[in-house]
Amino acid sequence: MNSDIKVIKNIEKITGKPVKFVKGDILDGKLLDKVLKKENFDAVIHFAGLKAVGESGEKPLWYYKNNVAGTVTLLESMAKHNVKKIVFSSSACVYGVPKALPYTEALPVTKATNPYGETKIMIERILESQASADKDFSAIILRYFNPVGAHESGLIGEDPTVPNNLMPYIAQVAVGRRPVLQIFGNDYKTPDGTGIRDYIHVVDLAIGHVAAIEKIKTAGVHVFNLGTGKGASVLEIVKAYERANGKPIPYKFVPRRDGDLAIYYASCDKAKKVLGWTATRNIDDMCQSVVKYMESKK
Ligand code: UFG
Repeated sequence: MNSDIKVIKNIEKITGKPVKFVKGDILDGKLLDKVLKKENFDAVIHFAGLKAVGESGEKPLWYYKNNVAGTVTLLESMAKHNVKKIVFSSSACVYGVPKALPYTEALPVTKATNPYGETKIMIERILESQASADKDFSAIILRYFNPVGAHESGLIGEDPTVPNNLMPYIAQVAVGRRPVLQIFGNDYKTPDGTGIRDYIHVVDLAIGHVAAIEKIKTAGVHVFNLGTGKGASVLEIVKAYERANGKPIPYKFVPRRDGDLAIYYASCDKAKKVLGWTATRNIDDMCQSVVKYMESKK
């Protein structure tokens, strides 16, 4: 829905392998049955979710239908065709308002601050129920922190029509498509007053998925945070982008955005210990990859 069909060709260029592609809706159980029957999958990596926090507040039913009912439809089809392993894209937002920092997987998951986050919590619970009902079923839940960046080749990246998140917004200001970045709040209790998040390069994130698929051989539920373990403020990201792009980013401070938290970041000790995975790319690498991607689109 938010994707570009050209991405398939570019993935083929990067990997040097053909990509089998079927266009369909995750709510279409018949189509899922057809695909899962035909191919002999070892595992499913489930990315088919809506992800805009603000939009989830405006259209909650759409979010619950696509994300929650869509996952149930997928799990039904997997059960029918004996596919016993799923990797699910969850989110740091399942932790809700921080009770302790850094976030560890052991923290209780009770309430998110928006319907998007609630869908992630519900799906995690559904996966737990399925794993306790089917003793051969393996659910790997990856809680992403703030994924940003693009592939180092500049061939695939993120450039939404309406950017909701910081990095694509900065990128569009940098190329002159938007006049100014609005920084939501400079009065948080953080060193420079702007919000702090744990940004993770999408390539590190992708490598984390491969590690999870390869290392987790047992049934049950396996939960991992995928982040860097370090926070960066909005102003630090702006400065890193300016370094990468060699030009200043016009910005202005505006009031805080509703529902934003001041600061959170991950503990990634579990992913390091169990998966042997650690993020290796820093915020300069993240910004450089976005600059390259935006250049390649000119
Ligand atoms: N920000 C701005 N200006 C903007 C956009 C964002 O100042 O135009 C600030 C925010 O206030 C926040 C930081 O930049 O301090 C990051 O905001 P994002 O919108 O990029 O990301 P969020 O941390 O709000 O949310 C992200 C994902 C969600 C996910 C959540 C996980 O977008 O899908 O992380 O905790 F749920």
